[in-house]
Amino acid sequence: MGVTGHREQVLVTRRLTPGTLDRLTARHRVELHDSDTVMPRDLLLRAVRGKAAALTTLDDRVDEEFLAAAGPGLRIVANHAVGLHNIDREACAARGVQVTNTPGVLTESTADLTMALLLGAARRIGEGERTVRSGTPWNWAPDFLLGLELSGARLGILGMGAIGRAVARRAHGFGLRIGYHNRTPLPEEQSAGAPWRPLEQLLAESTLLVVSCPLTGQTRGLLGARRLALLPAGAVLVSITAGVVDEDALAAALGSGALLAAAVDHHTREPAVNQALLAQERALLTPHLGSATTHTRRAMGALAVDNVLAALDGRRPPSAA
Ligand code: GLV
Repeated sequence: MGVTGHREQVLVTRRLTPGTLDRLTARHRVELHDSDTVMPRDLLLRAVRGKAAALTTLDDRVDEEFLAAAGPGLRIVANHAVGLHNIDREACAARGVQVTNTPGVLTESTADLTMALLLGAARRIGEGERTVRSGTPWNWAPDFLLGLELSGARLGILGMGAIGRAVARRAHGFGLRIGYHNRTPLPEEQSAGAPWRPLEQLLAESTLLVVSCPLTGQTRGLLGARRLALLPAGAVLVSITAGVVDEDALAAALGSGALLAAAVDHHTREPAVNQALLAQERALLTPHLGSATTHTRRAMGALAVDNVLAALDGRRPPSAA
C-alpha cells in the first residue's frame, strides 16, 4: 500500500484537457505520452514498466502482456472512459490491480449526441449537408430527402443503463413511444417509464433503435443480419457502442433499402471506419464524439485522476467497480 506523500510513478497514455493532470503531477512522478494519438504498443509496454498506476484510454489494450510489462508494482489502471472493453479485468484482478472507469460524468453529453444522431439519421441531415456542400443542384420538392417523423414513433433502447435512461428522458420530450431491452428487466423506477421487451420483440417493434449497451462477451456481434432483418421496414438505427452491431450487415441493410438510415459514432475498428458503411449515403458517421464536450472531458479527466490518487493513497477509488 502506498505511503501518503510518497511520490509514485504514473503513466498517462494520452494528452488530457489542460490542467487535468496538475493534481497528479503535484503529488507523483508522471510520465505523459504528450500526444493526441494512440501510444504505439512497443512504447506503451516499455513506458508502463515499474509504474504504480496507469491512466489509459480505450485505445490501450490492458492484457497479460501489458500487466507483465508493468511488473508487480502496478496497483491501478484508471481508464479514461466509461467502457472497459480494452481491459482484461480478470487478468487485472488476478494480479490485484484495481480497474476504474469514468461513469456518470459522460451520461448527459453522450445522450445529447445520441439524440443528435437520432434526429440526424431520421431527418437525413448528413445527406442534406453533403448535397448543399458539394454544389449538387437541388430545390425544395415535396418528396425531397424525406425522413422519419419522431413524434409518435416507437423507439427501442437496447441497453437501458445510465446513458439509455438519459436518452429515454430526452426521447419522451419528442413524443416517442419507448421500449427497452436489457438482459434483466429493471425495477420500474429505473426504466424511465419504458416497458421491457424480449430482444426480438423489441427489434420487431422499433422504428427507431438506439444501441447503447456495453460491449461484452455477450453483446459482441449481437445484431447481425438475422436480427437486423427483424426491424420494421424503413427503420433507423443509431449505434453508440462499437462491436455490438455487425457493421457489414448494417451496410447491407442500408444498401437493400430495408433500413431508411443509420448513424454510428463508435466504430468497431477505430479509427478505421467500415468501408461498406462509408459507401452508404444514408449512414451518418461521426468520429466517436459521444462524450466530446469540454465540460464532460474535464470531468472524465478529473475523475480518472481522483481514481489514481485514491488508489495510490490506499483509499477506495471513487469509481471502483
Ligand atoms: C466510450 O467512449 C466510453 O467512454 O466508453
